[in-house]
Amino acid sequence: MIRTRSYVSQSVQHLRPSGIRRYFDIAATMQDVVTLGIGEPDFVTPRHIVDRGIESLNRGQTAYTSNSGTIELRRAISAYIKGLYGVEYAPEDQILVTVGVSEAMWLALKAILDPGDEVLVPEPCFVANAASVEMAGGVPVPVDTFVEDGFQVTGAMLEAAITPRTKAILINYPNNPTGATLTRERMLEIAAVAEKYDLVVLSDEIYERLVYGVEQTNFASLPGMYDRTISMSGMSKSFAMTGWRIGYVCAAPEIMDGIRKLHQYLIMSAPTIGQVAALEALTHGDDDVASMRAEYDTRRRMIVDGFNQMGLTCFEPRGAFYAFPSVAVTGMTDEQFCERLLHEERVALIPGSAFGRSGAGFVRACYATSRSNIDKALERLQRFMQRHG
Ligand SMILES: Cc1ncc(COP(=O)(O)O)c(C=O)c1O
Repeated sequence: MIRTRSYVSQSVQHLRPSGIRRYFDIAATMQDVVTLGIGEPDFVTPRHIVDRGIESLNRGQTAYTSNSGTIELRRAISAYIKGLYGVEYAPEDQILVTVGVSEAMWLALKAILDPGDEVLVPEPCFVANAASVEMAGGVPVPVDTFVEDGFQVTGAMLEAAITPRTKAILINYPNNPTGATLTRERMLEIAAVAEKYDLVVLSDEIYERLVYGVEQTNFASLPGMYDRTISMSGMSKSFAMTGWRIGYVCAAPEIMDGIRKLHQYLIMSAPTIGQVAALEALTHGDDDVASMRAEYDTRRRMIVDGFNQMGLTCFEPRGAFYAFPSVAVTGMTDEQFCERLLHEERVALIPGSAFGRSGAGFVRACYATSRSNIDKALERLQRFMQRHG
């Protein structure tokens, strides 16, 4: 039979492959590479959390759970959010346990978008954001943010991108890849735009516990925002649980009805062992979060000082575990910089343009790696800068 067409849909062909992967593929073929590339904790999940997961398997807890997640975990999520921000979500009909924020994001978008609806996506941002909007049938509208504003999106920037098709704003603070956090003033500006144009706000707060010397505000807690905000967070970053695949989404009951329908057909229920472990983390994991955060903070200062001292000007990140220095001084593009650095000094960073066009000229360095790795990377970078600075 003659092939007359591609079997892959136009919409999937149209998705851009992640700009991160290429560097990992190259790095994987090389010896002795120091990688500050991967955006995940280097810590192993705390022992007591692992033990609860293992115990649950030994007890035979190997079946599906309720579609929304176990009621015990949903109650714990509700209490956790109330404890952090004073915001109340009913475990019965406003919280759903997902396969990470990755799933939560797609569910939330799919639940609110009709084909062609536009979503404002401040950039630079997590590589999956624009793709998730497209996979849900929407149109991502990039909104550039700049180092001069601390990579915070402003109300005016959002307003300039509004059209009659705009349905939602997708924000992520603390931010991947910049480490930016939002001031309350900026959050109120976003809230005012959401109110004025009757938009849904999807807030990815996965790095909410990893902030350094600033206060984290939950977007739904802002005046008038509760009913129009879809909050997403999870266990991956704060509790060093990326592989357990547990996140959650919270929203008003009407939106949650839509989200639950999608989740039940798509996933059935999030991993049972992960849910048991997440319950332990949320109820007894606060000290672990505090000690990992303190360690990240030390590394954050090491790396930011290191970049600044060698002439790679680095904006001070107040959240997540990323530094985002400018490489403009070298005269190279961010892609050239990363490629040459990898080949000449065997250090893997990610070009900022992988996270959106306003990331061009910057590189992302993840400092969720040991201090000795950071030292080694800085030493090699220093050598590189002596040749190219
Ligand atoms: C901003 C952001 N959101 C979501 C995710 C995905 O998280 P999860 O492991 O919960 O799917 C990541 C992972 O890097 C991220 O950086």
